[in-house]
Amino acid sequence: MLFLILWRLDLVFNSVNLRRQNSKDLENMNIEVVILAAGKGSRMFSASPKVLQKLAGISLISRVVKTAQSVGARKPIVVTGYEAKQVEKHLHSEKISFVKQKEQLGTAHAVSVAVPKLKTDSIVVILYGDVPCIEVETIKVLISKVSSDAIGLLTVNIDSPEGYGRIVRDSNNSVQEIVEQKDASPDQLRINEVNTGVIALTDAQLKFLLPKINNQNAQKEYYLTDIIKLARTIGLEVKTVSPSQLIEVQGVNDKKQLGNLERSYQLIQAQNLMDSGTTIADPNRFDQRGTLSAGADCFIDINCIFEGENVLGSEVHIESNCLIIDSKIADGARIKANSIIEKSHVHENTTIGPYARLRPDTKVMPNAKVGNFVEIKNSMIGDGSKVNHLAYVGDAILERDVNIGAGTITCNYDGTNKHKTSIGENVFIGSNSTLVAPVHIKDGAFVGAGSTITTDVPDNCLGIGRSKQKNIENWQRPKK
Ligand code: UD1
Ligand code: CA
Repeated sequence: MLFLILWRLDLVFNSVNLRRQNSKDLENMNIEVVILAAGKGSRMFSASPKVLQKLAGISLISRVVKTAQSVGARKPIVVTGYEAKQVEKHLHSEKISFVKQKEQLGTAHAVSVAVPKLKTDSIVVILYGDVPCIEVETIKVLISKVSSDAIGLLTVNIDSPEGYGRIVRDSNNSVQEIVEQKDASPDQLRINEVNTGVIALTDAQLKFLLPKINNQNAQKEYYLTDIIKLARTIGLEVKTVSPSQLIEVQGVNDKKQLGNLERSYQLIQAQNLMDSGTTIADPNRFDQRGTLSAGADCFIDINCIFEGENVLGSEVHIESNCLIIDSKIADGARIKANSIIEKSHVHENTTIGPYARLRPDTKVMPNAKVGNFVEIKNSMIGDGSKVNHLAYVGDAILERDVNIGAGTITCNYDGTNKHKTSIGENVFIGSNSTLVAPVHIKDGAFVGAGSTITTDVPDNCLGIGRSKQKNIENWQRPKK
């Protein structure tokens, strides 16, 4: 009992110092963000650490780091532990500080490992590496609640609070403490207001309170959430803020939660595009893993995937099942079903597909057509040119109004080196031709079907490179 009284006295005495120490102008304080990412995430059943799992193509941890940087953190501090090397290698940046939590003894313990890195006179925001959708604006509002007398806590009301820490308020509606699921009484389990894990406070408050947290609880862990009760003991107020969208505070602990969060996230992205005028055939079958901008009146049919940075002009029509990666598709282009376009530039009023594959560094100029089962790599298809059926065009320049017949192949590789094919304006290449590079088919030339072309064809010439047809009379068919 005496011990307890002395301890309380110590808290109160020191907290007076704490406030004096903190009377400085809070507005000019540094922002420090600590991101907890040491856990294995055993419920993922994965060889890689949980925070490296991807949401919409970007790892959970990269998302949180980016948010921390946008909030104004000079150098976010990432606490690693399980497979720390993998996490560091993945983030690989001079603008991040890493600290290692050797044993995962709980969230408070994880924060204590980061404390030596914290600048004095700073506001510290704690984020969890497995809560990837938290918004910059929400964190800024939370930071605005921090003062020498108050700390900020992000909470939210949810219908199924299962698994989260519960927010316990007193009769004045002031936050009293956070009780973890495993430590909660049946009454507390019925509370719908939950802890999101996001806390903001001054470095002085954190350094004062953190060492006072113990591990006497159901999981024998040092819970960061215990800091709330301790803050109240020394008379600090706990000011709560709620996010504008629930998705911001959803944690990812297993593959089911990851899958559900992915769908919610994709739906929001689809809605944003629809809000700016794009028609999406089914927002539940739309995937954007990166950035996508679209001009007026674009249409996107079901099951299209957009990876990396993509830009669509206006009136672009994309049929079902297309995969578009880091590409630009200009006004009025039509991408037919099942096409793949990667690091390419598709100009105005072109038609691509169905079943076309544009590999990196392809330029399809205005009004050109690339048809079914055509593969193009590192090539330019000139204005109005057509490569309509079953062809391979690699390392080639096609000028305007070229027609490439079905089954044509540019033989660009001799087993060691790559070579270029040039095809001038208004050239016609007959079906099933083999153009052995380096070779130049000049303006207006015509290549007979089935040719193997190994030397240049001059302007307006017919190039024909195949054995002459023989017809043998009175041919006797083989007998059985
Ligand atoms: C935590 C909160 C809970 C809150 C929930 C929100 C605590 C004690 N509980 O529970 O109140 O409702 O988040 O999502 O804080 N980590 C470390 N080192 C450790 C332990 C954890 O770095 O020793 C990291 C994990 O990698 C993870 C984060 O901290 O990124 C949260 O840990 P997790 O075990 O997922 O906590 P929850 O049970 O979800
Ligand atoms: Ca979690």
